[in-house]
Amino acid sequence: MTCFADDIQRNLLDREAFTFRHQLMGHPALSLENLGRAIPALPSSQVFYSSGKLDRGDDFDRAHVDHTNGLSIEETIETIRTSNSYIMVRSPEADGSFQPLFRELVGDVEALIRDRRAGEKAHGAMLYLFIASPDSITPFHIDRYSTILMQFQGSKEVAVFPQWDDRVVPSDVREGFVAHAGVRPVWRPEAEGLGTTFRFAPGDALHIPFVAGHHVRNGPDDVSISMSIIFNTDETQSQTRAMVLNHKLRQGLRLRPHPVGTAPWRDAVKSGVWRTSARVAHALGRHG
Ligand SMILES: [Fe+2]
Repeated sequence: MTCFADDIQRNLLDREAFTFRHQLMGHPALSLENLGRAIPALPSSQVFYSSGKLDRGDDFDRAHVDHTNGLSIEETIETIRTSNSYIMVRSPEADGSFQPLFRELVGDVEALIRDRRAGEKAHGAMLYLFIASPDSITPFHIDRYSTILMQFQGSKEVAVFPQWDDRVVPSDVREGFVAHAGVRPVWRPEAEGLGTTFRFAPGDALHIPFVAGHHVRNGPDDVSISMSIIFNTDETQSQTRAMVLNHKLRQGLRLRPHPVGTAPWRDAVKSGVWRTSARVAHALGRHG
């Protein structure tokens, strides 16, 4: 491993959240100087920023539209310490300064995936960069991918919830979200006790399993700088296909299929069914 330390719990990938240490502290790509140059140079479609004064129940995907901070990206970076802002950068590896780091991270992630026998490749691997004012909140959400989040500056509290627990996100909502059907899991305050809260500081990393709900609060003292690598494995791609099939069965045929995540063999069969039916539909020239 180049980027991750050896305390990583390889057998827990996409099964449970866990923390470990990363070895990227002091990396020149993550210096404030490089960030201040690289972020404004990226296409604006990759840079999202908003007021950091969000609530746990806000719609994270729309925060940059619903909660603008009224500043330019340059002003936001300049005043991040006091402006209660939140900057998210998609694919900073589009800038050359992140390229070697990105390749090394993909190498480490793929070693983890192989060790866990979850596949060979980190499909759709991509970096995300987060810079946030003290005390800012990332509302509750789930992601259609696995995440490894690394902290570089400031502290964070991340609460992660069991990925397949219907008390956190009901399976039909989870499946509708994964199927891009316009469904967003909403925060249920009564689920708070089901989560595990990880407090982490510079040098710490956290794994958030595929579709595991989470919300984040940045510490009160310092600007938080963190970066994540997101990816899918053969296994999570298979689970995605099974969830899309379940969603279609619920919507089209009004069936109540077994939720995904409870029996791997059943998920694999569903994944195969969905893949085959998608190929047949494609061959017949139908879409949908
Ligand atoms: Fe997330």
